[in-house]
Amino acid sequence: MLKKVAILANGGDVSGFNAVIRAIIKTAENNNVECYGFIDGYRGLLNNDIIRLCTSANGNAIGILPKGGSIIGSSTNANVFNYPVEENGKTVYKDLSDKCVENIKKNEIDCLFTLGGDGTQKSARDFSLKGINVIGVPKTIDNDVACTEITFGYNTAVSVAADALDRLHTTGETHHRIMVLEVMGRYAGWIALESAIAGGADVALIPEIPYDINKAAEKILNRKALGKEFSVVVVAEGAMPINGSISIKNVRNNGNGVDNNKLGGAGEKVAQQLQELTGLEARCTVLGYMQRGGTPTAYDRVLSTKYGAKAMQLALEGKFNTLAVIKNGRLDSVPLEDVVGENKVIGAVSGNTPESNLKRVNMDDDLVKTARSIGINLGD
Ligand code: F6P
Repeated sequence: MLKKVAILANGGDVSGFNAVIRAIIKTAENNNVECYGFIDGYRGLLNNDIIRLCTSANGNAIGILPKGGSIIGSSTNANVFNYPVEENGKTVYKDLSDKCVENIKKNEIDCLFTLGGDGTQKSARDFSLKGINVIGVPKTIDNDVACTEITFGYNTAVSVAADALDRLHTTGETHHRIMVLEVMGRYAGWIALESAIAGGADVALIPEIPYDINKAAEKILNRKALGKEFSVVVVAEGAMPINGSISIKNVRNNGNGVDNNKLGGAGEKVAQQLQELTGLEARCTVLGYMQRGGTPTAYDRVLSTKYGAKAMQLALEGKFNTLAVIKNGRLDSVPLEDVVGENKVIGAVSGNTPESNLKRVNMDDDLVKTARSIGINLGD
């Protein structure tokens, strides 16, 4: 019998965090289960920073469905299995997961819900190996969590990017310019590809297809020859030229075994090169955190609510150590082990951890075929 459950939100925030949290709480309350939240993701679990969550009168989880952010915070650099600790004036990395296990036991938490991406679910799976009941919910605007068709937060990010493209379109057309929009997408180009289709872009450069800038320039020059003296280009932050490398803004210190590169500059680089190659003026806009903040789309509110309700249902059914997923358009679940463990289903690709298993754009995907079919140049 479940009595107490706890939620943690981890990694970069997305629109829809609160909608998932609300659905878990409501489903828990409807089944007489008490719900708690650890503040700032795994860091709160480590520091035993925990609060009661409820939707009753004056409860702290009222009216949160359309709210951006996360009422229980989130942490982007809290790998408790490899956590930075100051010792004799030096930073050393330690496995503090046993302290987290102790906190879960002390608070008598019967199941921990981990809302996050690949790195978060990797830690969740490692906690399951330590005997903790966990259930993951796949989050990330990049839509790159393996074994699910869609993550929450992604649809909102695409909508924000598509809106930005509409706006860039009119100013680009007025001034006969190439308008480059840099969107997020570290290892996967889903946002770039889908927003390019939604926003009528002419070129989309994604991490999965190292680009030849001459091909993109050719597309723009062909448009120019037809009298269309402006073009709209979407560049994923992780896009890179053939025989080149990703654009890194700076290197952080978030611990060993994680990708410490802060990306930046991919869009500007493309804009400069296209200006030189086409003779048209080019301008770059970096959309950045606009894609993560603010109210979720109706789609993301529904998806997040479905995910939250499903996660709590899985807990009630005792189906622990799983990830709630969308499979063939329906709610389902898969063992965390299949997502981030040694037996992962999809072949490993480069990602946030050496063991990561990110879902990247496949060349057979309908989005790739559709983009090519309507003449969006993918840099190849
Ligand atoms: O993982 C999602 C993401 O949006 C990436 O596309 C991006 O590189 C990263 O977050 C940036 O996050 P932060 O600056 O918060 O670490």
